[in-house]
Amino acid sequence: MFRHAIVRKPCRNLVRGISTALLGKPDYEQALRQHAAYVDALRSCGLEVVVLEADESYPDSTFVEDTAVVTEKIAVISNPGAPSRRGEEGSIAEALKSFFSSLEYIKPPGTLEGGDVMRAGDHFYIGLSQRTNREGANQLVQILEKSGYAASLVPLEHVLHLKTGVVYLENKKLLAAGEFIAHPVFKEYHLIPAAVDELYAANSLWVNGWVLVPAGFNKTRRAIENLGYSVKTVDVSEFRKLDGGLSCLSLRF
Ligand code: GLY
Repeated sequence: MFRHAIVRKPCRNLVRGISTALLGKPDYEQALRQHAAYVDALRSCGLEVVVLEADESYPDSTFVEDTAVVTEKIAVISNPGAPSRRGEEGSIAEALKSFFSSLEYIKPPGTLEGGDVMRAGDHFYIGLSQRTNREGANQLVQILEKSGYAASLVPLEHVLHLKTGVVYLENKKLLAAGEFIAHPVFKEYHLIPAAVDELYAANSLWVNGWVLVPAGFNKTRRAIENLGYSVKTVDVSEFRKLDGGLSCLSLRF
């Protein structure tokens, strides 16, 4: 179960964020409203949420998940692979110092973004992507193993981050899309495919027994509900325009 979350309000420079989505520019005011509703949804799942002020220096800085990997035992500060995102992690490290007496760091030439790290129990899957290189992933494996966790590497083919296409819903269940639907590394799990025309919904988010699902993806929402989960629908359309999703907007621990 998670107790805490850290989020960061979107900044006006959000419109300059990295995007491959071809969905247009995000509307800042709408993004602020959606972000506030997202924070309410996390709070309604029992989390105490630290809301950091917007940081105009980094257009993508609302996607805090990429800046760290946090568990109940350790906090690892990442080294983002996207050059425009390097430095976002500094203020996240400061925020995490309120919760952890020491922090671990991914160091250059290693790069790693938290969106590439999926936890399933005490096992961590680390995507090798355009953002997370093998050196960064191996550094994280060493840090995790020191703390009693296990990890495996998963080379990515098409998606931005590992959790763009696969998320763990606890109870040995994975919600997956695209390249992860028949991936041998996940064969021990019960796999729930996101609907083929709803790939974005693969980035849903388990929080303390609820599953947050992006608004507008009803087939995937129903598939998750049919498994017995209580679902909360959250509209993140403005963040989708920047390739971001529900998991990207928070660090949960
Ligand atoms: N726009 C989010 C990212 O590319 O990291």
